[in-house]
Amino acid sequence: MADRILVTGATGLQGGAVARHLLKLGKAEVLCLTRHPDSEAAKTFKQLGADVVKADFDDPASLKQVLRGCTGVFGVTNFWEAFLREYEQGANLIDAASEAGVGHLVLSTLPSTSKISNGAISVPVFETKARMEAHTRLRGVPFTFVHVAFYFENFINYFPPQKQPDGNYGFGFPLAEAPLAALAVDDTGGVVTAIFENRAEFLGTTVEVVGDQMSAQQFAQIMSRVLRRKVTYNHIPRDTYAALGFPGARDLADIRDGEAIRALRALCQSFLAAAPVRRILDGAAKSKVLRHPGPSSTAM
Ligand SMILES: NC(=O)c1ccc[n+]([C@@H]2O[C@H](COP(=O)([O-])OP(=O)(O)OC[C@H]3O[C@@H](n4cnc5c(N)ncnc54)[C@H](OP(=O)(O)O)[C@@H]3O)[C@@H](O)[C@H]2O)c1
Repeated sequence: MADRILVTGATGLQGGAVARHLLKLGKAEVLCLTRHPDSEAAKTFKQLGADVVKADFDDPASLKQVLRGCTGVFGVTNFWEAFLREYEQGANLIDAASEAGVGHLVLSTLPSTSKISNGAISVPVFETKARMEAHTRLRGVPFTFVHVAFYFENFINYFPPQKQPDGNYGFGFPLAEAPLAALAVDDTGGVVTAIFENRAEFLGTTVEVVGDQMSAQQFAQIMSRVLRRKVTYNHIPRDTYAALGFPGARDLADIRDGEAIRALRALCQSFLAAAPVRRILDGAAKSKVLRHPGPSSTAM
């Protein structure tokens, strides 16, 4: 296992999960990268034993500095803050990792929707990350790509059930009947830790990280059972959703739409269908981790 690992996005959901799992395992020195070392989240990681380091994906010199002496890096960039600049930010991180001679970059990416759908759609949040994969290969950085599915936590942060006029609760997006590949974001940390632990096995591969796959109606049924109140899923057609006007509404509509993107639905299914399912550590007991050599081998 690499013994000095820089975790980007450590104050956020994915990177935070990775940093917590690495610290819990206690085998590596963990450096948490943030732009705001005085934030509460950063202070929590200091208390847990991490070194908190200041850097910015938009500032290559700062990345070079914090990468000095690092043997491993977990990279996650935030499309929803940088939008199309996400690619440049990722490229800055990859270039810095290359120059520092990092032995293992575990990068959170997604496959190209354009490639999967034969050009029918192109969803920027996927494309920027697919380009980061190409850049990693070009720079020759030893990598593992992780494709993280929809977080269960999105039902709290982005699509919380809203009270309806009849007193019941409902949530909605453009998914129709398609199954949704999802996971508890904390399991990302267990999976990535296992990847660092088993470097030789995972170098040069792409890992699809999925906990379960269900339709939105099934998610609503579970919420109803657990919350003991009626929660329904209301399908919102793609064009209605895209017209809502918030930043990224069209992207989300394209990602979730059950009619326009049959190809993506197939991708979600492939997250779970590509056997054998492999449980690689206790911390990720609820996640099924499927490994294949790269997007080209994904069963579409
Ligand atoms: N939601 C989902 O279902 C889902 C599924 C798969 C993939 N994703 C992808 O996950 C990514 C977001 O990750 P997340 O959910 O963990 O986000 P998050 O909880 O919002 O955290 C964002 C993190 O990014 C860091 N960050 C942002 N801009 C930065 C910059 N310029 N330099 C350095 N650090 C920067 C922030 O650090 P500081 O603010 O502390 O500097 C923070 O730690 C997105 O690209 C999204 O496409 C999401």
